[in-house]
Amino acid sequence: MATKSVLILLLVTVATTVAQKKCCYPSQFEGSLGSITAQVQAGQGTTQTDGLQYAYDFTNGRVGAITSKDDMGVMTKYQYIYDFSKKRQYNIQVSPDISVCISGPLNGTVPHCVPASATYLGSSYYGDHKLTVDFFQYFESMGPSNYANVTMTVSQGDCVPFSVVTEGMNNAVPTLGIHGYVNYTSGISDPSKYFAVPSFCAQQSNHKTPKMPKLLFDKILP
Ligand SMILES: *[C@@H]1O[C@H](CO)[C@@H](O)[C@H](O)[C@H]1NC(C)=O
Ligand SMILES: *[C@@H]1O[C@H](CO)[C@@H](O)[C@H](O)[C@H]1NC(C)=O
Ligand SMILES: *[C@@H]1O[C@H](CO)[C@@H](O)[C@H](O)[C@H]1NC(C)=O
Repeated sequence: MATKSVLILLLVTVATTVAQKKCCYPSQFEGSLGSITAQVQAGQGTTQTDGLQYAYDFTNGRVGAITSKDDMGVMTKYQYIYDFSKKRQYNIQVSPDISVCISGPLNGTVPHCVPASATYLGSSYYGDHKLTVDFFQYFESMGPSNYANVTMTVSQGDCVPFSVVTEGMNNAVPTLGIHGYVNYTSGISDPSKYFAVPSFCAQQSNHKTPKMPKLLFDKILP
């Protein structure tokens, strides 16, 4: 009887410890994100690398990202705004010749914590105990042709996203995504840099649901 009680106490303690590991991200921060996406289509493997700057603003219910690409000498700025509090998303492109703004409705809320369905896998450190991260895994399904097995790491204690690996199907295409979060800074020094909606967005009143890069969205929000 006593042994059984100790065992139960032990199990409860373990369960509590594991549950406590599921932390919530800081409320406002910015940083950079590097990604490699690999896909297999008709037997052909392709990879794509991306880099972007992002701002995560749970306090005001929004997330934004900016990147620039040089396409044969023409610099184009790409900006993505997901304003959950205003229920609106924007996909903006600005180059010297043309400005494009596509906006559409947006449902949901800014994910703020390691998902409740996630399993804690363990912890590891990098360098000479410079950084300890907690590993979590969960399965995310948005339909039979869009799902992923997600392995994510966050820094232990302060819960800053460190890496996200997704393995699954993106529009029925086998996809592997590897995303690394670097150069975290607390707070958002210039919110307008990410969240000011350009005036030309009002003129281009496209109310269709914009073609949002779903994977990019996943990259920003683990
Ligand atoms: C957003 O939610 C509303 C109400 O639940 C629903 O009618 C609408 O279809 C949703 N829109 C999108 C884009 O998911
Ligand atoms: C996710 O990946 C892990 C490691 O490869 C595997 O053990 C697990 O079964 C996978 N989960 C699902 C739901 O596919
Ligand atoms: C990260 O910060 C370092 C030091 O400030 C800088 O040199 C580097 O370019 C930054 N990396 C990215 C991807 O922004």
